[in-house]
Amino acid sequence: MNIPIRPRRNRKNPVIRGLSRETQLSPADFIYPLFLHDESSNDAIDSMPGCHRWSIDGLLGEISDAKALGIGAVVLFPAIADSLKNPKAVESHNPEGLVPRAIRAIKKTHPDITVITDVALDPYNSDGHDGIVARDGRIKNDKTIEILCSQAICQAQAGADIVAPSDMMDGRVAALRNALDTEGFKEGSIMSYTAKYASAFYGPFRGALDSAPKSGDKKTYQMDYANTREAIREAHLDEDEGADVLMVKPAGAYLDIIQRMRESTHLPIAAYQVSGEYLMIKSASAAGWLDEEKIVLETLTAIERAGADMTLTYFAKEAARLLG
Ligand code: PBG
Repeated sequence: MNIPIRPRRNRKNPVIRGLSRETQLSPADFIYPLFLHDESSNDAIDSMPGCHRWSIDGLLGEISDAKALGIGAVVLFPAIADSLKNPKAVESHNPEGLVPRAIRAIKKTHPDITVITDVALDPYNSDGHDGIVARDGRIKNDKTIEILCSQAICQAQAGADIVAPSDMMDGRVAALRNALDTEGFKEGSIMSYTAKYASAFYGPFRGALDSAPKSGDKKTYQMDYANTREAIREAHLDEDEGADVLMVKPAGAYLDIIQRMRESTHLPIAAYQVSGEYLMIKSASAAGWLDEEKIVLETLTAIERAGADMTLTYFAKEAARLLG
């Protein structure tokens, strides 16, 4: 047959495929989310097989393992005792709280690890919402931001390198930037959960932290999954307000959003492969229905192919090992 143009020539062997590959995953792109609690045990999380609620000591050991695999950044999610939760989430900015103590321990043992903290009230709030709940059930935007600023300052004082607001209140990036600058943390970065959708993919995470909303849902602050333009509007706002990194969350079902955002900003873009995405792969693999190792690399590559520069993934260690 006369077919002068044969794209298969570029797929002919592994070397040529490697030379032609457009997207290269690297452990340097991964951010490893870690759960912690104020206990001395490391407990397996039923809703997320393979993940643990770490003690501070356990956390330090897990970070050593991750570091040996080339992972440089972690993001911390605390499980807070019910006795410390209240409607004003005061524990969120206790300098002796679990997260500040964990940050100090990490910075002492692993000074080269970049520590990212979640800025939101849901682990600390007896209502289980990311913001303060008014008597009529509404989420108070501006009051929440005051507390988020105290929380972020407390985390920065403990040594956090990047604060990551996941609450979706309006105007929080500008307020956090101002608070960090005023308190002397001009170098403190903000990774904003810019397009965080109201998603059923977060179910296992809320199980892990026992942080599900006690009433209602998160749809008055997290975005409607039917929308794209709204994500770009949020991206422009966050950029103007001083965010250093923009995030899309979840990742796998939102590749179009990652791509659109990539085209709309020059900032680095992060994507969060969330707990439900993790669990779908884990459970299908455990049943023998999918090849976990192949699916992990394929999904993470797809996320970066869409335009993400960095990916938060519970598979960080496994993927780094596979790439090594
Ligand atoms: C809460 C927060 C959530 C996640 C990260 N930060 C849950 C939520 O918004 O309800 C989800 C992460 C995951 O599912 O892996 N601020």
